Amino acid sequence: MSRLIVISNRVSAPTADKPGAQGGLAVALSAALREADGVWFGWSGETGETGEPNFQTFDGVTSATIDLPEQDVEEYYDGYANRTLWPLFHYRLGLTEFEREFQGGYERVNRLFGDVIAPHIQSDDLIWVHDYHLIPLGWMLRQQGLTNRLGFFLHIPWPPTRLLTALPEHRRLVDALFAYDVVGFQTREWLETFHDYVVREMGGSIGEDDLVTVGGRTIRVIACPIGIDADEFIANATSEQAQAAYTRMVESSIGRSLIIGVDRLDYSKGLEERFNGYQRYLETRPDAHANVYLLQIAPPSRATVESYQIIRAQLDSLSGRINGAFADVDWVPLRYVNQSYPRAALAGIYRAARIGLVTPLRDGMNLVAKEFVAAQDPEDPGVLILSRFAGAAEQLDSALLINPYSPDDIADAIDKALAMSREERVARWRPMFENVRDESVIWWRRCFTDSLMRV
Ligand code: G6P
Repeated sequence: MSRLIVISNRVSAPTADKPGAQGGLAVALSAALREADGVWFGWSGETGETGEPNFQTFDGVTSATIDLPEQDVEEYYDGYANRTLWPLFHYRLGLTEFEREFQGGYERVNRLFGDVIAPHIQSDDLIWVHDYHLIPLGWMLRQQGLTNRLGFFLHIPWPPTRLLTALPEHRRLVDALFAYDVVGFQTREWLETFHDYVVREMGGSIGEDDLVTVGGRTIRVIACPIGIDADEFIANATSEQAQAAYTRMVESSIGRSLIIGVDRLDYSKGLEERFNGYQRYLETRPDAHANVYLLQIAPPSRATVESYQIIRAQLDSLSGRINGAFADVDWVPLRYVNQSYPRAALAGIYRAARIGLVTPLRDGMNLVAKEFVAAQDPEDPGVLILSRFAGAAEQLDSALLINPYSPDDIADAIDKALAMSREERVARWRPMFENVRDESVIWWRRCFTDSLMRV
């Protein structure tokens, strides 16, 4: 059996310091790495001189991390990854910064990853690179003479051609993808926008069996939506910690319906628009006051990047304004919390909620939507209100799908969800639950690695 090598910017394999694997992706990849005797490479998250990777094996999973010099972190992670590619790929041209140094730093760090990792690769290893931080890495590894099967999966959306062409040297970035044998996207929609670029900008062609050809090079390009570890999450939802969180929520709700939102504090999540939609609900339905409240959990993210500081300040003031305008002596309409909670506690909170409000302006997938579905009580499930612009909407199409830019859409959906009969809630929830269970993160991993193994 070939070894599996996973490479991503962040490594979330369990270690002695952080023994629980973090999140469904970590669980699925860790299981594969354990079986296939693999290694998970990535950045340690620390700044410092880059030396040899620091290998550690914990619970059967080997990870190997490197530190990066401060300038590299600024230009590669803060810079090109999070000030250029992230906003651009989430359709936010106005927030996208185009600096030549960022691109230089990005390529330098990708080359560095290639140099550091190549000596540890064996000839029949399967190599799987993840996400927008490392698009050119496959090309860098080929430069090192590697002929291994190489796959790449993009966790975020692929932007429309007319947006992508605003990126200086966009062609260079996309050319680098052709060093891989298999490229995976979350949805058919991103796959089709990629095809569009290949045809318009590269003069390439789309063939049978997911093949894409440009010049003499043919690669396989697939859509494989990531899922969650549904069994783990269902077990989570009925664990003691979840029970405790559930009880705490129910007791503090005193009969009011809980609307829950959980997101990294990121402008792509549509939090401002969500708050505006909730405000519209409160303005237009005065009778419903004091029967509902919104709990928004939003742990801060990428705090060194200015656009994240701005959205944080905007949400601080908007949440204050909403509570100032609508709160009563015994009721706070919006509880806005900037800390993170353990997954088991979140599962309990999801289960206590009447509505899950997941309204990103653009999202590669959105696993909160899937976790919310998995955590529900099958006899009395809550309602998922989901942005049509989340990748998850392709699979979870019996949610209440809304346009997250429209405050009226959000307000109407809240109204509809609160009035929905149990029968309709169950009928909408069941197919979503079946999808979340069947197209799990393990299914996703197989979908991708099977395709890579066939190369
Ligand atoms: C998104 C990206 C991931 C990233 C995560 C957290 O989900 O697709 O690659 O790891 O956000 O962001 P951070 O910058 O903290 O790693």
